[in-house]
Amino acid sequence: MHRLEYRGYDSAGVGVVTAAGGLRVVKKAGRIANLERALAGARLDATTGVGHTRWATHGAPNDRNAHPHTDASGRIAVIHNGIIENHAELRARLEAAGVEFASDTDTEAVAHLLRAWLDEHADGTIAAALRAVCQQLAGAFTLVVVDAEQPGAVVAARRNSPLVLGVGDDEMFLASDAAAFIEFTRDAVALGQDQVVEITRDGYRITDFFGAPAAGKPFHVDWDLAAAEKGGFQYFMLKEIQEQPAAVAATLSGHLINGQVVLDEQRVDQQELRDVDKVFVVACGTAYHSGLIAKYAIEHWTRLPVEVEMASEFRYRDPVLDRQTLVVAISQSGETADTLEAVRHARAQKAKVLAICNTNGAQIPRESDAVLYTHAGPEIGVAATKTFTAQVAAVSLVGLALAQARGTKYGDEVAREYDALAAMPELIERALTVTDQVRALAGEIADSRAVLFLGRHVGYPVALEGALKLKELAYMHAEGFPAGELKHGPIALVEGGLPVVVVMPSPVARPTLHQKLLSNVAEVAARGARTIVIAETGDRAARTLAARVLEVPSAPALFSPLVSVVPLQTLAAEIALARGFDIDKPRNLAKSVTVE
Ligand code: F6R
Repeated sequence: MHRLEYRGYDSAGVGVVTAAGGLRVVKKAGRIANLERALAGARLDATTGVGHTRWATHGAPNDRNAHPHTDASGRIAVIHNGIIENHAELRARLEAAGVEFASDTDTEAVAHLLRAWLDEHADGTIAAALRAVCQQLAGAFTLVVVDAEQPGAVVAARRNSPLVLGVGDDEMFLASDAAAFIEFTRDAVALGQDQVVEITRDGYRITDFFGAPAAGKPFHVDWDLAAAEKGGFQYFMLKEIQEQPAAVAATLSGHLINGQVVLDEQRVDQQELRDVDKVFVVACGTAYHSGLIAKYAIEHWTRLPVEVEMASEFRYRDPVLDRQTLVVAISQSGETADTLEAVRHARAQKAKVLAICNTNGAQIPRESDAVLYTHAGPEIGVAATKTFTAQVAAVSLVGLALAQARGTKYGDEVAREYDALAAMPELIERALTVTDQVRALAGEIADSRAVLFLGRHVGYPVALEGALKLKELAYMHAEGFPAGELKHGPIALVEGGLPVVVVMPSPVARPTLHQKLLSNVAEVAARGARTIVIAETGDRAARTLAARVLEVPSAPALFSPLVSVVPLQTLAAEIALARGFDIDKPRNLAKSVTVE
């Protein structure tokens, strides 16, 4: 459960079928530590059970609404991820039949429905009950269930929310993510859409919701426990920031074969790629920021128009999609509901979908026509760091693959860009050396009311990412703006002492843009702002003008976000730590957002 806590940490609970034959449920609001205290000294004499960490959707994060939920007599325990969209209707029906609810959740209805079905089917199994109940549910759900009267079995079902089976020796596991069981087995099976699985000590059986035999997707977990542990760092996030050179290197590795950029999976042919006449990039949050960077690279290299859109908005505005549209869906988890629905909408309109994902076999890559994996390894800190830089590397590969297919770049040009990308891990390594300076600066601005971030060109998405990291980790008001837009309104926010962080372009590679940014630094400094500039090593003009300079190594313009984002990630982490917050588990957030 600790390894899944990144998915939600409002409350935690367990429900086990005890050797004595009953069900024992213990659940507590807050972190798993509270549950551990409640369980201290308890002997859970059991061989089957369920455990859950919650990210609240329906019902406040208190003891009552924590999972598992049970039927009235406490025979069946249910845990759930997702949202049961028809829960109000199900609840009304159950209440009309005399059922009393003990929580405000959408989940509890499932426990009562299971019990009602079992009462009507004297010889029915809990697996059959779950199949029947799933047929009545709308929305997204992973459900895992135990029944005290059918010990030795655990049953689970999934629709639009992940579920992975771990196949051990004389033991079986079910979890949202293989991290939960890699200590015991690395042999796993990803359950498919609308499937039910029943596990017993020595086997498993998968069916669809109607009982027809079905198969999951077997895979071997290729990262080890050490990758999911802190390795000497106080926080996962600090470790993951340091892992960025390796994450980018692993993402690029093996993708240039005989001078050709190759993806991991490709179910579209070269002709279809050549026929693409426009590109949409859809993603959320940090992945959206990597999508904004993709626009600069793809348009520059391929001359294709690229639109970048927040996945949560995409399908609600009837975007113009057809067979010649390529939709690039970027998602670390591969299970973000907004992005998944955008993918489904695009495919329903016959567009081709290329997924960039960090999770092998997740739903988004499974439903896409082509896949490029970011091999960043497991990211446990809730704020995305190494997966962002890995995504920036991956979108660059996608741009090169498209340029190659369309003939807008010759083979040797593609190879040169690839080589420049392959040199980036070394530059990120050097960018990481500013950590001590950033820590000192963080202490100075940790009490500010707000922080503004400015950038132009690819520096603008970096500014947005710096602001997002600060909001989510330090709970400070932070905004990212295109530096040129500032004078059209936001400059009114600038007042004495306000920290303004500016992402400078290279004075050598982009002299005109650099000059414009210098003017913007001067404008805010003239109004009393405390200017902090992320600048290329040796940028004397920036050094003269700004109150503080954090230097990063010189890099090709399109790849420069890979280095300029590093001090901003560290700045947000250090400010949050200075303010006393847990940077791995920011309030109100969860790593995987499997609800819309
Ligand atoms: C921010 C963060 C989120 C995610 C977003 C998309 O640090 O982690 O903004 O980037 O929820 O998640 P994925 O990439 O899993 O689709």
